[in-house]
Amino acid sequence: MATTLEIPTRTQVGIIGGGPAGLLLAQLLHQQGITAVVLENRSRQRVESRQRAGLLEQGTVDALREAGAAERLDREGLFHEGVILSYNGQRHRIALTELTGGAGVTIYAQTEVVKDLIAQRLATQQPLLFEAEATHIEGLTTDSPVIHYALDGQQHTLACDFVAGCDGFHGIARRTAPEGFFKTYDKTYPYCWLGIIAQVPPSTDELIYAFHERGFALHSMRSSERSRLYVQCDVTDTVADWPDERIWAELHLRLGTAGWTLSEGPILEKTITPMRSFVTAPMQYERLFLAGDAAHIVPPTGGKGLNMAVADTRQLFEALRTHYQDGDNRGLLDYSAACMRRVWRVQEFSNYMTELLHRNPEKSAFDQHLQEARFQLLTTSRAASQVVAENYVGLAARRASEAAEWPLPQAL
Ligand code: APR
Ligand code: PHB
Repeated sequence: MATTLEIPTRTQVGIIGGGPAGLLLAQLLHQQGITAVVLENRSRQRVESRQRAGLLEQGTVDALREAGAAERLDREGLFHEGVILSYNGQRHRIALTELTGGAGVTIYAQTEVVKDLIAQRLATQQPLLFEAEATHIEGLTTDSPVIHYALDGQQHTLACDFVAGCDGFHGIARRTAPEGFFKTYDKTYPYCWLGIIAQVPPSTDELIYAFHERGFALHSMRSSERSRLYVQCDVTDTVADWPDERIWAELHLRLGTAGWTLSEGPILEKTITPMRSFVTAPMQYERLFLAGDAAHIVPPTGGKGLNMAVADTRQLFEALRTHYQDGDNRGLLDYSAACMRRVWRVQEFSNYMTELLHRNPEKSAFDQHLQEARFQLLTTSRAASQVVAENYVGLAARRASEAAEWPLPQAL
C-alpha cells in the first residue's frame, strides 16, 4: 500500500480505477473543489509500467493541459502534421493539418500520461489508494452508494454521491447493474498485434500504417532515440514464436518501399495485444457512470482507446461540475447518450482502419479486392482522405458527440 493518507470513508465521487480515465477525472474534480477518492487495485509500479499506445488527439492534449498535467507532454510530445498509409509498398500521405484546418496528433506514450497524472495526484495529497481492490458496490439506487474494497487484507467501505466506474475492461463496475441492464456488443478479429520497443531512432518522421499481403505493420515512435513498431501476428502466436530476426524481417518487408530503409536496433520489449471491438450501452446505471475501457474497447489501429477514455472523462467531469456548482442535472442525464454518439463514431473508424489495413485470412478474394479499392480511393479522392483525417485527429467524434440537442431536464 502506497499512501500515507488517512483512509477516507466518505467522498463526493468514488472513482474505481487509477488508469487515465480515473486519474484525470479525479484531478479535474479536485480543481473545482469536488472531492474524490481513487481506488486502484494494482501497485503504483505496475500501473506505471504497462505499455499501451501513444497517440493523443488535440482534445486529449487540451484536457491534460486543462488539468495542469501537460508540462512534460508539452516538452516531450511530438506533434505530427501528417500520417502515412501504405499498401503493398505504395505510400499515401494524409495531410492531417491541411485537411482539418490545423489539427494534428501528438505522440506521447500513455504510460507517461499515467505517470504524470499519478505524480500530480500525489503532490496534491488527495486520496489515491493503490492495491485497493473494489469488490462490490451497493446502494446505487439510493443517494449514497457505497463501494466496498479490500486493502491490506482488510475490507473497507467508501460512501459517495456518485460512483465513476473507470476500472477498465476487466473491472467490476459494469457487472454491478442488474443482470441484462447493460447491453454489450462486440467483435473480435482473427489476428493480433505483436508490439516492440526498439532502441533505435525512428526511420520516419510520421507514423506509417502498412497493409501488406503478409499482414499489417505500423511504425510509430516514442522519442528521437526509440521506435515503437508493430506487426500483425496470428491469434495463437506467443512472443516465443517471434525471435528478433523474424520481427525485423517482417517489418522490412511490410513497411518497405523503394528508396527507404528501416533501421534496426536492440529490442527492449515485446508484447502481444488482441484485437477487439466492444461497446456497453448505456454508460450509466442510476448513480454509476462508466468511463473509458470499462464501457468500450477499440482495436488499436487508429490509436483511439486513450482518446475515448479522456473524452468520456471530460463529459463526465462537466456533468458532475454543473450538478455540484449549478444544481443542473442535464449533463448527468445526457451523459450516456452524448458518449454513445461519439463512441459509435470512433468504433466505426477504428473498425474501418483495422479492416483497411490487415490481412484477413477469412476474407474472400472479392473482399480483398474491395479492400484495395478502398485504399486506392484515398489516393485519388481528397474528400475520402479528409474523412480519414477528421476521424484520425478526433474532429469527427467531437461533432458526433455535440450533434443532438440536450434533452429536457428530468429528476435524477
Ligand atoms: N478495483 C480497483 N481498480 C481496478 C479494479 C477493481 N476491481 N479493476 C480494475 N481496476 C483498475 C486497473 O488496474 C486499471 O489500472 O482500473 C484501471 C483501469 O485503467 P485502464 O485499463 O487503463 O482504463 P482507462 O482508464 O479506461 O483507460 C483506457 O487504457 O487500456 C487502455 O487502450 C486503453 O488507451 C485506453 C486506456
Ligand atoms: C503507438 O505509438 O503505440 C501507437 C500509435 C498509433 C496507433 C497505435 C499505437 O494507431
